[in-house]
Amino acid sequence: MKLKKGILVTFEGGEGCGKSTHVNLLKDYLEDKGFKVLVIREPGGTKTGEKLRKILLEGKSKISSLTELFLFLASRRELIIKVIEPALKQNKIIICDRFIDSTVAYQGYARGINIELVSKLNDLVVGKKALPDITFILDTNKHLGFKSKGEDRIEVEDKSFHKRVREGYLEIAQKASSRVKVINVDDKIVDIQKKIRIIVNESLTKFKV
Ligand SMILES: Nc1ncnc2c1ncn2[C@@H]1O[C@H](COP(=O)(O)OP(=O)(O)O)[C@@H](O)[C@H]1O
Ligand SMILES: [Mg+2]
Repeated sequence: MKLKKGILVTFEGGEGCGKSTHVNLLKDYLEDKGFKVLVIREPGGTKTGEKLRKILLEGKSKISSLTELFLFLASRRELIIKVIEPALKQNKIIICDRFIDSTVAYQGYARGINIELVSKLNDLVVGKKALPDITFILDTNKHLGFKSKGEDRIEVEDKSFHKRVREGYLEIAQKASSRVKVINVDDKIVDIQKKIRIIVNESLTKFKV
């Protein structure tokens, strides 16, 4: 099956809400249908981006919120130029595990950096070509999602931090309702994935050759 243009689908949500699970299930489904699919995750995905990922997620020493913001944005910029834009040109379906909305939810709503500033920096980094076509926010009110790993810099944050992340995501969804779909994940994985596939299929019909 061929597409008129490349498509960017992003998955967002708190720790352990099922992003990786659904990214992989959607990839298998779309590949079975004959689409060219590329799965990527943030931060990382390029040589420089993987180094930044290590600093961001494995580092034990504290870094300031602004430093964190700029490191995420730097990783994203590399990913866009080296990976996302070329794949879009090849009319692939790119599925990205976390993207611009994570920055607004985590560094904006949860860490407290001005939301408008974060959005503007996102715009600067992403440009017009790499805006997501569909974004799924996987949502649950269970504070720590399905599994609390509690390992990296962000997973160790407290309950109120994760509550602010969730509230941020829900506000983002309200502001960008045509792009962003909130999917409740207090359900069986197969049933959640069915809902995701219906939305993706609707969107794909618009872009088929
Ligand atoms: N709807 C669900 N019900 C029960 N367990 C789930 C559900 N979705 C995901 N899980 C499990 O929760 C864990 C975390 O899922 P994962 O996809 O790694 O989340 P994330 O990538 O968002 O951190 C995995 O063990 C996964 O199998
Ligand atoms: Mg994951």
